[in-house]
Amino acid sequence: MLRNQSNKLKLKSKILIIAGSDSSGGAGIQADIKTVTSLGSFALTAITAVTVQNTKGVKSVVSIPPNEIKNQIIYSAKDIKPDAIKIGMLQNKSVIRNVLDGLKLLKIKKIVLDPVMVAKGGANLINESAIKILKKELLPQVSLITPNIPEAEVLTGIKIINKEDMIFAANKLINLGAKNVLIKGGHLKTEKVQDVFFNKSDLKIFISPRYKTKNTHGTGCTLSSAITTFFSCGKSLKRACELGIKYVNLAILTNPNYGKGHGPINHLNSVVIKNRFK
Ligand SMILES: Nc1ncnc2c1ncn2[C@@H]1O[C@H](COP(=O)(O)OP(=O)(O)OP(=O)(O)O)[C@@H](O)[C@H]1O
Ligand SMILES: [Mg+2]
Repeated sequence: MLRNQSNKLKLKSKILIIAGSDSSGGAGIQADIKTVTSLGSFALTAITAVTVQNTKGVKSVVSIPPNEIKNQIIYSAKDIKPDAIKIGMLQNKSVIRNVLDGLKLLKIKKIVLDPVMVAKGGANLINESAIKILKKELLPQVSLITPNIPEAEVLTGIKIINKEDMIFAANKLINLGAKNVLIKGGHLKTEKVQDVFFNKSDLKIFISPRYKTKNTHGTGCTLSSAITTFFSCGKSLKRACELGIKYVNLAILTNPNYGKGHGPINHLNSVVIKNRFK
């Protein structure tokens, strides 16, 4: 017999995650599922690649056949309709084309793209021709793009060394067809971390403390999934970015210090402090 379910947590929304697997559990689809779940929503997945990695680096990457990526998207999402989509690692042109085909069929409006290019350990995760079509065809289709500094440099051709450069690059991404941009400042050597949110009518710089730790594996994946979750639940993109940054910040602060390299962060921090995210 079913017990009274009234005090059980109710799932807030459904998120489709299109991304690569990280066997070490700290980044990629594993980080995405943990984030979406910890923030109270339901995660569906379409896996684009399987990486063999640990906190010290990526050993190998095996691509999933592009048609099977499209099939994962369509078959799962036609049954359980997602409220929003988070896109991470898309390693080549054919993968991007198949993802675009899938998106066209689903007609979901809320899409966040984390244009993953290089892993924290330095491994390249996307090729040149893929970058071109990501810029030309995928970028205009998404609600928000969340490049880190090196990714924003590749996408815009602008060298970024300070906040002004970040704003300049964000503006260029808008001119390239992006609707909203969040350039993440984790890679700059500034005392505080500055993340720049930008669109045609708004500029907001989120300032957070910079923690001296090597344990920042998966911060980017985690942030884009958190933003997607908050956005899917009705928050504005700007507010979703603010809450997402806060979530990542606390996840870094409470990291479990696992592994000998760039260790994972603590996705469960929201469960302990969930009242802060209302
Ligand atoms: N040392 C740090 N202290 C506090 N916040 C940080 C730190 N490093 C990154 N962040 C935050 O983490 C988020 C992700 O930024 P980052 O620039 O690290 O993304 P990324 O390079 O895409 O990450 P990944 O390597 O996981 O792909 C940003 O909101 C940034 O402010
Ligand atoms: Mg990243």
